[in-house]
Amino acid sequence: MTLSNFPDGFLWGGAVAANQIEGGWNIGGKGLSVADMASYKPNLDVKNFLAHMEINSKTISEAINDKTDKFYPKRRGVDFYHRYKEDLALFAEMGFKTLRLSIAWTRLFPTGEELEPNENGIKFYESLFKEMERLNIKPIVTLSHYEMPVSLSLKYNGWVDRRVISCFTRFSEVCFDRFGKYVKYWLTFNEIDSIHRHPFTTAGIIKDKCAAGEEEQNIYQALHHQFVASAIVTKIAHEKIPDSQIGCMVTKLMTYPLTCAPLDVELTLKKNLENNFYADVQVFGEYPKMILTDLKKRGIEITFEKDDLKILKENTVDFVTFSYYMSMAESANPDAERTPGNTVLGVKNPYLTSTEWGWQIDPKGLKISLVELYDRYELPLMIVENGMGAKDELVENTVHDSYRIKYFEEHFKQMNEAIGEGVELIGYTSWGPIDLVSAGTSQMSKRYGFIYVDVDDEGNGSYNRYKKDSFYWYKSVIETNGQCIFN
Ligand code: BG6
Repeated sequence: MTLSNFPDGFLWGGAVAANQIEGGWNIGGKGLSVADMASYKPNLDVKNFLAHMEINSKTISEAINDKTDKFYPKRRGVDFYHRYKEDLALFAEMGFKTLRLSIAWTRLFPTGEELEPNENGIKFYESLFKEMERLNIKPIVTLSHYEMPVSLSLKYNGWVDRRVISCFTRFSEVCFDRFGKYVKYWLTFNEIDSIHRHPFTTAGIIKDKCAAGEEEQNIYQALHHQFVASAIVTKIAHEKIPDSQIGCMVTKLMTYPLTCAPLDVELTLKKNLENNFYADVQVFGEYPKMILTDLKKRGIEITFEKDDLKILKENTVDFVTFSYYMSMAESANPDAERTPGNTVLGVKNPYLTSTEWGWQIDPKGLKISLVELYDRYELPLMIVENGMGAKDELVENTVHDSYRIKYFEEHFKQMNEAIGEGVELIGYTSWGPIDLVSAGTSQMSKRYGFIYVDVDDEGNGSYNRYKKDSFYWYKSVIETNGQCIFN
């Protein structure tokens, strides 16, 4: 019988983001965030993620003028804001050791530019962390998860403007001061690389506000500001919370060559190097030389201020975290069939099956990612998002989600192998342990949870919570520290 390699103290749990779970978008003094601008588009093909995430000055102004949540599901979330005690109790029942969550910047700083935080917002998170402490669930907090104040986006075109660094630093300092006694694990930016795929959601960049031909240039400048901000707050966290651990968070987009034709391999190498760039900067504290050469060739010039290089070099992260949902292939053949993944379009891999949204399911790719990342960085790793979006059917107050159990089981077996081969994996948080609103399509019906929430895409439903079959299965995985998947 195979034995579980999961170490004692392994951090099993789940991950959520404030803007996808909390709701309460306009109460307690909360300001509008970029997530509050995302609308649900029922008539669009769910595989067309670009169209679902399309935002421009016109749609933003429509959203700001709409004072309801009718077309904006992220404003509703799943009402975690009011039901967090019930939800935390369910997580505790599953045995969660940890919960990754984010702090809505706009609950603390409604426009991002106030000098003092909104005490109502502080109170909410304080009670949340106290309850987690009572239940023995360790928080892992993401400071920025697709929810910056929309005011900063409108005024500065988001992170393109260097002044946003100090707004973020002020917000982060308040988080460290007020929540540092509860929170030891902090992540700076969720999927910092996603700035290229959805610049508005990630960095508040409104494309039609970029000068003609300057969009790419603006994106790289904004990314640089985020790297610097990440390093600055890493320094502050280390000073203010001596036992804290600060991590970076990237989207692991594993790409295989479709064939062993050297050109396919070369194109694939390029994609994978690009995907590694973001953690490279945060782990090694400098830009990879090949990336700098590439940017130069493309005419992109990042403005570095005097101390930027020093700040990056001196404040690197303590651990590396990543999301992993799918993999894709690459090919030199322009006619190769493509399929969407997590806000990317890749070449279809004939050896893999896909979800309804086209994301290719690849457990072995998770193991390959773990081995590659550990070999590259030699820092503790955490998988902070993984899971399968699926349509669930509630039957007699439960969901028979064997497809979800299968997905997780296969991924856990690969994690187990990687640990057995020496990878230092310290935790795993599945995405959306309770159903929540999709980041990409704003659908409620794209569900990831072990807990079903009775609400549909239009916001109709009781919001009652129901345990799915996977709830009991994950509980036993945690209870046996992974052994039950081999019995
Ligand atoms: C990750 C994001 O990229 O993917 C999450 O960090 C997101 O916010 C998750 O929810 C799954 O994507 P989607 O579009 O299915 O919600």
